[in-house]
Amino acid sequence: MPVARPTVYITRKIPDPAIALLTESLDVSVWPEEDEAVPRDVLIREVKGVDGLLCVLTEKVDRELLDAAPRLKIVANMAVGYDNIDVGSCTKRGILVTNTPDVLTDATADLAFALLLATARRLPEARDFLLKGQWKTWSPMLLTGKEVHGATLGIVGMGRIGQAVAKRARGFDMKVLYYSKRRNPQVEEEIGARYVDKETLLRESDYVSLHLPLTPETRGFIGERELRMMKPTAVLINTARGAVVDERALCKALMEGWIWAAGLDVFEVEPLPVDSPLRTLPNVVLLPHIGSATVKTRTDMALLAARNIRDYLVTGRVHTPVNPEVIQRY
Ligand code: DGY
Repeated sequence: MPVARPTVYITRKIPDPAIALLTESLDVSVWPEEDEAVPRDVLIREVKGVDGLLCVLTEKVDRELLDAAPRLKIVANMAVGYDNIDVGSCTKRGILVTNTPDVLTDATADLAFALLLATARRLPEARDFLLKGQWKTWSPMLLTGKEVHGATLGIVGMGRIGQAVAKRARGFDMKVLYYSKRRNPQVEEEIGARYVDKETLLRESDYVSLHLPLTPETRGFIGERELRMMKPTAVLINTARGAVVDERALCKALMEGWIWAAGLDVFEVEPLPVDSPLRTLPNVVLLPHIGSATVKTRTDMALLAARNIRDYLVTGRVHTPVNPEVIQRY
């Protein structure tokens, strides 16, 4: 009797090479849309008999979903962040969770730096000004922004992406401060970053860039208290997860001038609600969660997620586990 091939459900139309890699050795079904998330009821139905799930960050992998998927052995998230997944429940059930670190580090750091520059130099505002026909003449103080070179950058979270941002900052002759769960002497030596406590970082930085994962401990990491510690000339950049910032407090800070501006790629609720006050503020640059969005990086992320699933289900090998204890048990 032929042995049944493992089955996989992919929750979004991902780049073809990743689907091809999976279909070589597994039975694959895909939610066919690229720009529309799979409806929850469809997802719950589809995971019923699958061995592997390749998902993106819009899918909540919670107990309800796990209950509906009694055969599930691996959840491969096509993202480095995995706050959409209840990892504890997966581990209890012996389900491996994987993410996509490394392959997106540089693209995300590039975007963080682009956002920092765009916010400091008011690029979206300047573009709108030109396109709306408001540009009458060169004028001495027209659309003046903030210096980036030589300024102090405070990096919160000195993991892979934080380090890559720090390297870019050095090219702009910036002074780099950092605050992280763990102190990293190697980074201090190689990049010349100085470790400081949270309060010093907030008080001394001209730019604060967030690079920490969303966990119960980091939710609301930047709230009213923190925003009030920042310089009135400071800029906050968030390319991590929206909920590490208390958005309501941030709006107040931007409206009342506790800080100068913010550049945001991520939000508490995504897509950003149409009635969000952030949309109306002149001193904020908004992007639709595109930190890792280059063709190469998104393809590499999809391929890494696919390799994690294929290799785990076919040979037991795994590349980037979030909860390796699941395999170490055996
Ligand atoms: C991630 O990987 O966590 C990003 O937010 C999406 O690229």
